[in-house]
Amino acid sequence: MTAKKRVLSGIQPSGSLTIGNYLGALKQWVARQDRYDCFFCVVDMHAITVPQNADDLRHKTREVAAIYLAAGLNPDKAAIFVQSHVAAHAELAWILTCMTPIGWLQRMTQFKDKSAKQQQDSIGTGLLNYPSLMAADILLYQAHEVPVGDDQRQHLELTRDLAQRFNHLYGETFVLPEAMIPEAGARIMGLDNPTAKMSKSDESEYHAVYLLDTPDVIRKKVMKSVTDSGRDIRFSDEPEKAGVNNLLTIYQAFSGQSREAVEAHFASARGYGDLKKGVAELIIEHLRPLQETHHRLMHEPGYLDRILADGAARAHAVADATLARVKTSIGFLPPLASS
Ligand code: AMP
Ligand code: TRP
Repeated sequence: MTAKKRVLSGIQPSGSLTIGNYLGALKQWVARQDRYDCFFCVVDMHAITVPQNADDLRHKTREVAAIYLAAGLNPDKAAIFVQSHVAAHAELAWILTCMTPIGWLQRMTQFKDKSAKQQQDSIGTGLLNYPSLMAADILLYQAHEVPVGDDQRQHLELTRDLAQRFNHLYGETFVLPEAMIPEAGARIMGLDNPTAKMSKSDESEYHAVYLLDTPDVIRKKVMKSVTDSGRDIRFSDEPEKAGVNNLLTIYQAFSGQSREAVEAHFASARGYGDLKKGVAELIIEHLRPLQETHHRLMHEPGYLDRILADGAARAHAVADATLARVKTSIGFLPPLASS
């Protein structure tokens, strides 16, 4: 029997998860759990790269873990854990930070975007170092595949560059991971502004559909989404069709149908109103079971915490072994076991 390939990914417990997180990441995770040896973490250490309120962070960490389960991850198959529960992430991140040229970090689009949104004198160094921590998350588990949305492509390239650099300096240590980016849903755009990526931290009320939005709120947001003055319902790269293209993409990604099938489905629609209704109802139908399970899990914190403890134990076993090899390779003196 050949060993299963490894998969690792994570989402930050900041803001509320959107259908972009679901279609770009979570849905691909669930699809992989039977065939791969999977590790999925709630990356709280990444969340604190921008200021967080302590109570909110604790609540969001449980909420995101419950969403992982509600979306269909099975804790008997995948290890589900909280990043800060496995100290090896912080330790390897420091070692990799020391090997990461500042220029690589300054070039990252996510750093440029996020730092532009903050007061210059309050930007923490962690925001710049963020990709070295993400590289540690991935490399500790020797992950072959990392299912993420399109915006993480650049971070995965940096992870590969770091792994190669380490392997070159100290001998084969890390597997070179590959980004797994879905064909449909890799980049869901904002409903109010289809030229910007749908983000969980946008302040505008009509920007994102959150996974925990009620059916009425979902309907209202989708019905208000920006389209164009035409009535042509087709996939298109033309900038003025970005809104319609985004709605069709959401429909395609949730339904799992081909583009042709989706266009055929809306061929007899009388206008964008019908398109929006169809998209809203499909989202509601797909989120209903997720929301029900999530609600139940949030009332069973003991159960959730046990799953996270079990996930962390499984993560420790793999991560600590990699970290020990790395420390020996770079010349850290091993501590004598105390008697
Ligand atoms: P984040 O919200 O930055 O923690 O992202 C968690 C995961 O969701 C990553 O794999 C992202 O690439 C993915 N993701 C976030 N926003 C979107 C979006 N609008 N469309 C597709 N994937 C997304
Ligand atoms: N940087 C990712 C994001 O913002 C989250 C993340 C942290 C991640 N560590 C990871 C994703 C490891 C995949 C693998 O979306």
